[in-house]
Amino acid sequence: MTQPLELGEIPAPLLVFGGPYSNLEATRTLRREAERLRIPAQQCVCTGDLVAYCADPQETVAEIRDWGVHLVMGNCEESLADGAADCGCGFSAGTSCDLLSKEWFDYASRRFDDATRAWMGALPRRLQFSFGGVRVAAIHGGATRINRFLFPSQPDHDFAVELAEIDADLVLAGHCGIPFTRRIDGKLWHNAGVIGMPANDGGRQCWYSLLQTTGDGAININHHRLDYDAESAAGKMVRAGLTGGYHRALLSGLWPSLEVLPAAERLQTGRTLDPGVHRLSPQG
Ligand SMILES: [Fe+2]
Repeated sequence: MTQPLELGEIPAPLLVFGGPYSNLEATRTLRREAERLRIPAQQCVCTGDLVAYCADPQETVAEIRDWGVHLVMGNCEESLADGAADCGCGFSAGTSCDLLSKEWFDYASRRFDDATRAWMGALPRRLQFSFGGVRVAAIHGGATRINRFLFPSQPDHDFAVELAEIDADLVLAGHCGIPFTRRIDGKLWHNAGVIGMPANDGGRQCWYSLLQTTGDGAININHHRLDYDAESAAGKMVRAGLTGGYHRALLSGLWPSLEVLPAAERLQTGRTLDPGVHRLSPQG
């Protein structure tokens, strides 16, 4: 893999989010929330997939670029930069996830010029920085593969394999669409979830995270729900002809296909998530 982009020290608090997914309404709402909290762009990290299911791909990319947050390349940016035929999630041919992704990918792919694709292709695949004295890395899916799904129910070993590739005690990852934090051998794997699509828990809110340092050298991690104008975002999808199913998911909070989910996450469908409050301290 290419060398990580080293950002040096980032002061607290840190706002972390994934998957804007072409959802301009959610992206603008989170930007306003960051401004309300007085968190500058240089203290915000996005774990990639700016472009996906929703109706405003160029506008969302423009909003994110204007905001100026730190960015990691998602598999969607990688695929658009490469001129690929699909989003690169690795769905099996003919599955409903594969068919659903073709709709939005074709819609989005027609809307980007060569300069924007080149910008996407130049995004870093890994960020490294120091936060509260802790080494932090930000990636998209896994360290071994940009589109590796790592869901909260997966065994410790799956995370340990990825952590062994990363020089950090706290990893910020995205891609799977569900917010969670796992402790593995004294390190934390944190997925803030995504802001562009609900988390299949039956609520239309999306998810982001706030990380704060404490006076005793620890880091507190809080998952947060993002309330935004989902009806406007869904209405735009209908008018754009993006009616394969994700437009309904914005309002129902339920994904149109569960194929990528492990059994435990399928059972969680429609149930309110509680990703908890987490703490990484020097004492472990
Ligand atoms: Fe992804």
